[in-house]
Amino acid sequence: MIIASNLKTNLTREKTISYIMDVEKFLDDTNCEQEVFVFPAMSSLNLHFGKTIQGAQNAYATKNGAFTGEIGTEQLEEFKIKTILIGHSERRHILGETQKSIIKKFNFYKNLGFKIIYCVGEPLEVREEGIDVMMKYLELQYDGIDVNYKNLIIAYEPVWAIGTGLTPTLKDISNIHLKLKEKSSAPLLYGGSVKVDTAKDILESDGVDGVLVGSGALDVENFCIMIQTAQNIETA
Ligand code: PGA
Repeated sequence: MIIASNLKTNLTREKTISYIMDVEKFLDDTNCEQEVFVFPAMSSLNLHFGKTIQGAQNAYATKNGAFTGEIGTEQLEEFKIKTILIGHSERRHILGETQKSIIKKFNFYKNLGFKIIYCVGEPLEVREEGIDVMMKYLELQYDGIDVNYKNLIIAYEPVWAIGTGLTPTLKDISNIHLKLKEKSSAPLLYGGSVKVDTAKDILESDGVDGVLVGSGALDVENFCIMIQTAQNIETA
């Protein structure tokens, strides 16, 4: 399974290095064979060799140039980063990224062969309109995205569940995942308030290939427990 930690705007460089080293030690000690990603804050990116895959939470569709506040592949290459999160709801809804700019970014990083974790999810007002409206909304987020890209992972993250402690029911998660799986055979993660004590049920749900975790993974011990949980499910 795929277990990913999105550190967002948290942890210093020093704390991030120690976080990743703790994950690495856990993987070595336990021989867990899950695919583990950590997405540090931009200023905490670093060279890392090990089993944990380090990814960028964001980057601009450029090698370099005059894009104040952004980084490009020149900066990612320094740290051998070949994985990127695209379309996260905080970038769509807080930072104002449009589907058009997301498609541009997606194609740019796809052409470079990056592993892309592409996020989709609906806001609460859309969900309240019912399943048909909600699926149409999600479908628009697949527009212009190559769903057959071989290095694609998709994350379904309902906007109203992110950082709020709220989650859809397990039945809803499965139901939506199975519908989304009809659009792409890429691995499909669930994200949005996954916690150490809810990870097992979510990971066991139909159509769920892993989790993308924010607040619930800030404590490295909890993140490692989630990795172990995935391992236990796979080897049960
Ligand atoms: P959360 O964040 O686990 O804090 O809800 C998930 C995400 O934004 O990827």
